Amino acid sequence: MKTIALYNLKGGVGKTAAAVNLAFLAAQYGRKTLLWDLDPQAAATWYLGLDPGVQDSVKKLARGKRDWIDSVHATAWPRLTCLPADFDNRHLDQYLRKTEHPAYQVRRLLKEFGTEYDLVVLDCPPSFSTVTENLFHAADVIAVPIIPSQLSIRSYEQMVAFLEGEKIRGVKLYPFLSMVDNRRKQHREAGVELRERIPNMLSTPIPYAAAVEAMGRHRAPLGASQPRVRAAAAFEQLWLELAEKLHRRD
Ligand SMILES: Nc1ncnc2c1ncn2[C@@H]1O[C@H](COP(=O)(O)OP(=O)(O)OP(=O)(O)O)[C@@H](O)[C@H]1O
Ligand SMILES: [Mg+2]
Repeated sequence: MKTIALYNLKGGVGKTAAAVNLAFLAAQYGRKTLLWDLDPQAAATWYLGLDPGVQDSVKKLARGKRDWIDSVHATAWPRLTCLPADFDNRHLDQYLRKTEHPAYQVRRLLKEFGTEYDLVVLDCPPSFSTVTENLFHAADVIAVPIIPSQLSIRSYEQMVAFLEGEKIRGVKLYPFLSMVDNRRKQHREAGVELRERIPNMLSTPIPYAAAVEAMGRHRAPLGASQPRVRAAAAFEQLWLELAEKLHRRD
């Protein structure tokens, strides 16, 4: 089992859009895939057509296997399942801090119960918290959507510094350009600069596209609802690139 996390400290950069589309594509490419929605906003859960939970899922997760497996829901698409978020996820940090190894709980749960999946995709909230610290230990690969701007470089470098400061070396960061509008000079220029300054940048950019915004209306990944749009092809290319990186880490 491999784990990809979508993370950026910055909000609204396309983490959830990528998590949903990549998880869908992984399933289309034959992998048994679980999308674990770690964000109390529950946007990924919504996009996959599920309703956010209303039970005390955090306590349930803490209880062990039966409850963990019971919380996983099927989606409308083969091989794609989802562990929905709910508003109680806002208490996840509190719960984690009470455990003996707060930053390792997601990793522990995945090791114990996630073994029947080929791939787990974590959609993460835009914060530095105990929850997000967990993904640095649980993920094989962290895919980081970056909007082409100067501020994005800064927040990316903060994240690299955090990982170095914490001596977290097992996880590989793969940034990619997100919401790119090539009609804008600033996007074109920042894109070039980001490629020069950030090693490991994936080569596939995700374009700014109305089709991605429309996912909220369709409540479905692009490949399911609007397979012919350019952004769908971009996500597929991105998935193939990431799959290759994961394969190399086997
Ligand atoms: N490639 C894109 N083109 C156009 N709009 C996009 C694109 N990607 C995301 N969006 C829109 O931008 C908004 C934020 O996207 P998304 O929720 O994926 O970001 P996020 O990083 O997960 O946000 P948060 O930090 O709040 O979790 C949404 O309204 C989404 O529809
Ligand atoms: Mg999100």
